[in-house]
Amino acid sequence: MTSHMADASGKGLVDAVQATHQEIKSLLDSVAAGDDRQRSFERLSTLLAAHEAAEQEVVHPLTKRADGGEQIVEARLTEEREGAETLQKLQTMGTTDPGFDDLFASLREAVLKHAAAEERDEHPILDASLSPEESQHAAAQFRAAQSVSV
Ligand SMILES: [Fe+2]
Ligand SMILES: [Fe+2]
Repeated sequence: MTSHMADASGKGLVDAVQATHQEIKSLLDSVAAGDDRQRSFERLSTLLAAHEAAEQEVVHPLTKRADGGEQIVEARLTEEREGAETLQKLQTMGTTDPGFDDLFASLREAVLKHAAAEERDEHPILDASLSPEESQHAAAQFRAAQSVSV
């Protein structure tokens, strides 16, 4: 977490995105550990798809506006496309398929790398370029865009 905080009335955009990253990580762990695997995988699939869509709608466009943001966003979008393809394959395959474990392990690694790259390269740009008010406003938009019940 970064210390970009706004005022007492709410958390900013970077906090909102990173909170979801934590949820995604814990669902990745649950699926890998085999805890109620089918249910955990369904929750992960729903949340991951909603998260990347909300980033594409709300977060990446804000990054793109900032200096140096465009290339960073392009790289993240490529990772998001690849992740969505792998997720689709896993959904088609199903959690009981003999190939599920190996393909899921590669998705997990890719998603963790992707989230780390966003936190390292994209989030400092957002922190630097948004005012506290803009950041809180964008956080509300992001939460609404990502809103799913999992
Ligand atoms: Fe993303
Ligand atoms: Fe993300």
